[in-house]
Amino acid sequence: MNKITVVGTGYVGLVSGTGLADFGNQVVCVDIDTEKIALLQNDEIPIFEPGLKEVVDRNVAHGRLSFSTNIEKAIQESEVIFIGVGTPEGENGEADLTAVFAVAELIAKNLNDYKIVCTKSTVPIGTGEKIINIIEQSKKTNNTFDYVSNPEFLREGAAVQDFLKPDRVVLGVTSEQAVKILRDVYRPLYINETPIITTNVPTAEMIKYASNAFLALKISYINEIANLCEAVGADVHTVAKAMGSDGRISPKFLHPGPGFGGSCFPKDTKALVATSKKLNETIRTVEKAIEVNNNQKSRMVNKLFNLLDNDIDGKTIAVLGLSFKHMTDDVRESAAIEMIEKILGNGGNVKAYDPEGMANMKKIFPDIIYCNDWESAVQSADAGVIMTEWHEFRGLDLVKVKDLLKSPIILDTRNILSMSKLIDLGFTFDNVGRKSVL
Ligand code: UGA
Repeated sequence: MNKITVVGTGYVGLVSGTGLADFGNQVVCVDIDTEKIALLQNDEIPIFEPGLKEVVDRNVAHGRLSFSTNIEKAIQESEVIFIGVGTPEGENGEADLTAVFAVAELIAKNLNDYKIVCTKSTVPIGTGEKIINIIEQSKKTNNTFDYVSNPEFLREGAAVQDFLKPDRVVLGVTSEQAVKILRDVYRPLYINETPIITTNVPTAEMIKYASNAFLALKISYINEIANLCEAVGADVHTVAKAMGSDGRISPKFLHPGPGFGGSCFPKDTKALVATSKKLNETIRTVEKAIEVNNNQKSRMVNKLFNLLDNDIDGKTIAVLGLSFKHMTDDVRESAAIEMIEKILGNGGNVKAYDPEGMANMKKIFPDIIYCNDWESAVQSADAGVIMTEWHEFRGLDLVKVKDLLKSPIILDTRNILSMSKLIDLGFTFDNVGRKSVL
C-alpha cells in the first residue's frame, strides 16, 4: 500500500486524493485551511462535486483516507507527495506559484527519506525544474527525491468519474524508479490498460496546456460559427452534429454558448500566451480564442439589451444560472458575471437563481436579489436570461414562465429551450446560432 500525501483540498486535490485512496493507496489530504479540514473531518464536503461524498465516505470507512492540517507530519510519513494547491492568475496572465513553491519548501524541510514529489496543479511549463531546484537547495539531508509532473484532466461536475476512469494518465518523470512507483499508485488503471504516457517533465507540462487550450479553441471556433450561422440563417446545432460525425473532429466540445468560463480555460489560455511571449514565440490561435471568448460574453449582453430595445434602466432581469457550467457551484469567470455587471451598470436590477452557485456569486454581487427557485426569479421580471444549462432549466414550464414574466422575453445562451414552443407561445427570444431556424 503506497503512503501518499495530497497537499491542497480544492477541486483538484480533494478529488485526486479521494480517487487515489479508492485505488487502494493510503492517503492523507492536507491543507493549511483549518476550516476546510474541520469540515472534512466532520464528514462534510466543502465543494459541490457530484458523487464525491460517496467515494470519500467509502474510503474513510475503510481507513484509507484521512484529513489533516499537520502538513509536515504527513510529508514525513509518505513516500509520494502530490501537490494539488491553487495556482491563481497572477500578473501579466502568468500563474501565481506562491503556494506551489511554499509546498516545495516544506517538502525540502521534511525530506526524511527518499520521496517522490508529484505535481497535479496546473503549472507553467518549466515549473518542474524550479520545484526540483527549490528542494535541492533547501533540503537539509542527503536524502534523494524524484520529481513527476502528473497533470490532471478532471472536469468540475464530472471530476470523480474523470479521475476513476481517465482517458489517459500522463507522467513526466526524471527516473525509472519514479515510473515504477507511480505505476503502482495507479495500479487499477495500469491493469485496466488505461494509456499511461511516460515522458519527460516539460512534455508532460506542455500536454496539459496544449489539451486545455485546444478545447478552448474548439469552443471559440464553434461560437464564431454559431454567430455566422445567425447571419446566414443556418442552424449551428445541425452544423455541429454533422461536423462531429467526422471522427477526426468528434462531437465533444462543439456546443456553442455564452463563452467558456471556469478556473481552467480562461487562466490556462492566458498562461500559455504568457509563456510563449516570454520565449519570444507566438501562439496566435490561442490569443484569438481568448479574444473571441471575451467577445462572446459581451455578445450575450448585447443580445439581451437588443431584446429590450436597449432600455435597461429600471428593468428587472431574471438571471437563471450563475455557475460557469452546470453540475458545479463554481462561478469563477462565469459568463453570468459580465451579464450581471452590465445589467446593473445600465441601471437594471437582477433577480438570480442557481441550484448550487448562489453562495459563491453572493461574494461577487452581495446586493442583487437571490431567489429560492426559478419561479420567484422570473416572477414580475421584464425578461429572463438562461446562463447555465442546469437540467431544471432544460425542462422549464414555458407556459408558467410566460405567465410569471411581465413580458414574454427570454435569452437562452445555452440553446436548451424548445424554439417551436417559444414561437407557439409568442415569446420574443434569442439564442446562440439558431434563432431564425426551426
Ligand atoms: C476543463 C477541462 O475540460 C478538463 O479536462 C481540465 O482538467 C480542467 O479544465 C482543468 O484544467 O482543471 P472544466 O473547466 O471543469 O474542465 O470544465 P469544462 O467542462 O471543460 O467546461 C469549461 C467551459 O467551457 C465551461 O464554461 C463550459 O460551459 C464551456 N463549454 C464546454 C462550452 O461552452 N461548450 C462546450 O462544448 C464545452
